[in-house]
Amino acid sequence: MKIGILTSGGDCPGINATIRGVCKTAINHYGMEVVGIHSGFQGLLEKDVEILTESSLSGLLNQGGTILGTSREKPFKKKNLATGINKPAIIAEHIKELGLECVVCIGGNGTQKTAAKFADMGVNIVSVPKTIDNDIWGTDFSFGFDTAVSIATDAIDRLHSTASSHKRVMVIEVMGHKAGWIALYSGMAGGGDVILLPEIPYDIKRIGETIINRVKKGKPYSIVVVAEGIMTDGKRRVAEYIAQEIEYETGIESRETVLGYIQRGGAPNSFDRNLATRMGGHATELIANREYGRMVALKGDDIISLPLSEVAGKLKLVTEDHDLVIQGRKMGICFG
Ligand code: F6P
Repeated sequence: MKIGILTSGGDCPGINATIRGVCKTAINHYGMEVVGIHSGFQGLLEKDVEILTESSLSGLLNQGGTILGTSREKPFKKKNLATGINKPAIIAEHIKELGLECVVCIGGNGTQKTAAKFADMGVNIVSVPKTIDNDIWGTDFSFGFDTAVSIATDAIDRLHSTASSHKRVMVIEVMGHKAGWIALYSGMAGGGDVILLPEIPYDIKRIGETIINRVKKGKPYSIVVVAEGIMTDGKRRVAEYIAQEIEYETGIESRETVLGYIQRGGAPNSFDRNLATRMGGHATELIANREYGRMVALKGDDIISLPLSEVAGKLKLVTEDHDLVIQGRKMGICFG
């Protein structure tokens, strides 16, 4: 049996570990042949592929990024269909011509939506949830998230010394797209005093009061962790906006840091390596059992799978009853 594998959407730590998990299981355990597809769905449009062998897989476990390359190609996007070029049909045809029994799609929400549409067309697809945002519905965690949280937490730790030395407010902006998972987990792990999430509305005056109250209690500096997706005036970067608004409200010097793509770079941590390995192996098992149209997922300690039709188009967002929000509030942390 010959299978294809592609990586689509934003890169993150752990993609190569997933590729390794899929391919080593497929080659060693099931005797499959694996075709690596370059640059996500674009590679299927262009039949830009390579055969993956054991030697292609060495040194992948702790390598950041994706050896296959990625793109944000969305074949079902209306503008694509409007050009008269039927990209989905071309891709389905190329999958047949390449002799692929199934394609493993590693990607975020956009990829899961595309995978579900191909599954509806009768193309054999199995998908693996991938994103640092952790906003894919149906899985407790996606690989990439824990490493991004570790990177952001380390950055927040480093801000405490400069904030206390200068008696400043330090605002750090973390990624997460429309979800606040990275801000919540790194903000709590990094000892944030104020944590702003897209899911919880904030009032800059209340934030100012929190910071002033800290000064009155003899804590002349504060750490503010903000998710990139929170509401602002839309004219400035989130961190710049919040820092300037806080300085205006409190009169305390405030500075901003935008952590950016560092959260997506470098080697995955051990949790993400093992999660990626487990999900990759499980995806191959689904193919061996000819269970197509499904996404692997983490539920508690178990790797399960869900129909893509149940996952596509849904976002998993932070809720106010999340344990970290409840616990943080009890400890006096301001969520806006
Ligand atoms: O989805 C991962 C992510 O890093 C988001 O957190 C961020 O908003 C987005 O990708 C950035 O997209 P791009 O890599 O296309 O700039």
